[in-house]
Amino acid sequence: EQSLRSVAARHELAIGTAVDMAALRDAADPQYRALVASQVSTVTAENVMKWEALEPTRGVYNWGPADELIDFARRNKQQVRGHVLVWQNQLPTWLTQGVTDGTISDAQLRDILRAHITTVVRHFKGKIWQWDVVNEAASDPWDTPASIHLKGFWAQHLGSGFIADAFRWARAADPGALLFYNDYNIEAFGDRGPSDKTWYVYTMAKQLRAAGVPIDGVGSQGHLGTQYSDYDAFQVGEVLDAFSDLGLATAFTEVDVRSQMTEGVRAGDSNEINPRLQASAANYSVLLQACLANRHCLSYTVWGFTDLHSWVPGWFTDPPEGLATLYDESYRPKRAYNVVKADL
Ligand code: XIL
Repeated sequence: EQSLRSVAARHELAIGTAVDMAALRDAADPQYRALVASQVSTVTAENVMKWEALEPTRGVYNWGPADELIDFARRNKQQVRGHVLVWQNQLPTWLTQGVTDGTISDAQLRDILRAHITTVVRHFKGKIWQWDVVNEAASDPWDTPASIHLKGFWAQHLGSGFIADAFRWARAADPGALLFYNDYNIEAFGDRGPSDKTWYVYTMAKQLRAAGVPIDGVGSQGHLGTQYSDYDAFQVGEVLDAFSDLGLATAFTEVDVRSQMTEGVRAGDSNEINPRLQASAANYSVLLQACLANRHCLSYTVWGFTDLHSWVPGWFTDPPEGLATLYDESYRPKRAYNVVKADL
């Protein structure tokens, strides 16, 4: 039985997964480790490279878990996507609290961000293939239709310049890493998707390039749902082509396709005729085909590969959602796995 990574290699496409370090270490769950090692050629830390994990106490960096992943990747000849340098979520409390109570001024915050990026990128220098430098900076289309803006902690305190700054600081710290802007809901320009946000991110990338900011790629996360996602590969491919026409690389960085756990859909369901699982597989396939059709699409990474370790049930609870990954909770490959392999 061939692995996904071996069939993807024919296309010079890296196939990847987010890695849950607790699961990777769990001696009682050997299949998790075995499948990460054998099936993928690139890995992303699901949580252990986020700021709250790396620097839980101010000035005290905890590199252990991230270094362990880097070491695992080296032993298995896998490339590493670094995730993430600048994001408004999963920030350490000392940082957000310091800003709230006024002990950290905005000018100091900018220095702290520069120091963080420099320290982290230097620490992993030479070991990271692609860095997600800035993550999820654009607001959501349903918040303020047609008036997308930069959202969140960093834009609020540092203004829009934080994006260009972050890329410049990251480049200075490791000139060999590819630097990405990463976001969700940017799969399509068309009228069937949240096109305003896609245009916004496209325009932003174009302006960054024109200003000489060292951005190398745009990552499309690819968190889809069988209730709402209705793209075709051509439509998704147009977005990738638009980015690559700007001279940027592209990648799918966090693909998963969740379903509402309503009637007829049960956890652990791997029934090939379950319509939700067919729709999930079809959406995986649309993103993969678009990536395969774009010469600059470097990698296709899934955000967890088994329903046993997926962020979806813990995050999307009202209504409950799940069944988002390639393997079921017993590590049986689902239809999505077979379709992805067949596409490769
Ligand atoms: C998620 C992780 O999967 C969860 O374990 C964590 O509790 C929250 O973050 N977009 C991103 C990822 O860029 O970092 C998020 O990961 C999922 C959405």
